[in-house]
Amino acid sequence: MTNPVKDAAGGLSGAGRYPDSASKSARLFERAQRVLPGGNTRTTVYRAPYPIYARSGHGNRIVDVDGVERIDFLNNYTALIHGHAHPSIVRAAFSAVSDGSCFGVPTESEIRLAELLVDRIPGAEKVRFMNSGSEAVMMAVKAARAYTGRPKIAKCEGVYHGSYDFVEVSLDSSPASWGESNRPNRVPYSAGTPASVLSDVVVLPFNEIEASLRLLEENASELAAVIVDPLPNRIGLIQASSDYMTTLRRFCSKAGVVLISDEVISFRVGYGGAQAEFAFQADLVALGKIIGGGFPVGAVAGRADVMAVFDPTVGKSAAPHGGTFNANPVTMAAGAAAVELLTPTAVKDLNELGRIARDRVQAVFHEARVPWRVSGQASLFRLLPGQEPLVGYRSSWMDETVGKQLRDFTNALLNHGILVDPGGLGCLSTVMSESEVDILAQAVSLALSEAQLPTLETM
Ligand SMILES: Cc1ncc(COP(=O)(O)O)c(C=O)c1O
Repeated sequence: MTNPVKDAAGGLSGAGRYPDSASKSARLFERAQRVLPGGNTRTTVYRAPYPIYARSGHGNRIVDVDGVERIDFLNNYTALIHGHAHPSIVRAAFSAVSDGSCFGVPTESEIRLAELLVDRIPGAEKVRFMNSGSEAVMMAVKAARAYTGRPKIAKCEGVYHGSYDFVEVSLDSSPASWGESNRPNRVPYSAGTPASVLSDVVVLPFNEIEASLRLLEENASELAAVIVDPLPNRIGLIQASSDYMTTLRRFCSKAGVVLISDEVISFRVGYGGAQAEFAFQADLVALGKIIGGGFPVGAVAGRADVMAVFDPTVGKSAAPHGGTFNANPVTMAAGAAAVELLTPTAVKDLNELGRIARDRVQAVFHEARVPWRVSGQASLFRLLPGQEPLVGYRSSWMDETVGKQLRDFTNALLNHGILVDPGGLGCLSTVMSESEVDILAQAVSLALSEAQLPTLETM
């Protein structure tokens, strides 16, 4: 194992410093490029000039293949809420896998995890499992279409809901393509998106009540669902205002439209998820990430009459839904262990640590006179260039120059022992304490002085 060398400022120098074309990670990336497109099989985890490859993770630490240990503030893009290899979760997963990892019949474990979710999520009467958040969103949309018999969905500009064609629309609109702010254009994300997909999507300006309501009312008779992420990461972890959620709820109830809350990330904000924490009521909730205890998972939970579209006991269900690995027993066992560990006290303590982390890092930006900010809520944070108020996608949009500053800065954090997403997303886990937060703040300070970012004086 390489012995990473620390310089006087506590950063890595020599072996282990990122980037290093002689490192094991760089060599693995070269090898990957021979068999994977661009050396990659998950766009999110690509990092230029190469991603660091993980060797292992324990607690709040991740060790890469070069032997460099860092504090993991990424937690597989918020999917781990108890860090790596938590003993209770390992025990549950190991016990499940040693009894056989999958069957062509159901297991009791799916009932257990569903019961835990129904007990804590407001309005969740029934649950359906799948293997990813993308699938959860896709099945929630299909359920809404089957329930209403209508084709269209409404989603907010710039908000990520996974890889389903319809919810990708206008995910990365730019000033050249986005059009009027009160009537955002329907912009394809993936090349080749069929025009029919675009015409079945209504793009809403996030948190803009009047403009959104006008667009919803114009399309009311054709809308199956409004999908909303109450704390959307891609637009800076800004919370949907309670007036916005009330407006969407009222519209959906009046027009017979299904309101879907995408809590694939934001479920972690409270014991009962975002609905309970932010006081609104959706018809369906899309879940993923933390409810699988670190294994692939997705779930749709919601009102029994809507969820009845999946019911096969009536003959052919309105929305038939198969899936070889749905409710996989290893995932279900690990997920139940993770959810059980997430007691009201654990969530409260974790969220308080999140507040401390945001405050400390914000203070570092302030002292360095760098006009960046830390946004977020609960145990989630985003390091974001700029200081203007964040109101929606367009206020958090970054041009290439600023985007590169952020990527360079997060790469510099790697050399001070911290892993966050190149776009600035980070989160805390229940196996962290204030000492990890102190190291984060110190690392941000050191990386800022290296990065030579524009300051309030030089701008
Ligand atoms: C809000 C939201 N919805 C859906 C998804 C898709 O989940 P998955 O990556 O498990 O497919 C994500 C993934 O990050 C997400 O953040």
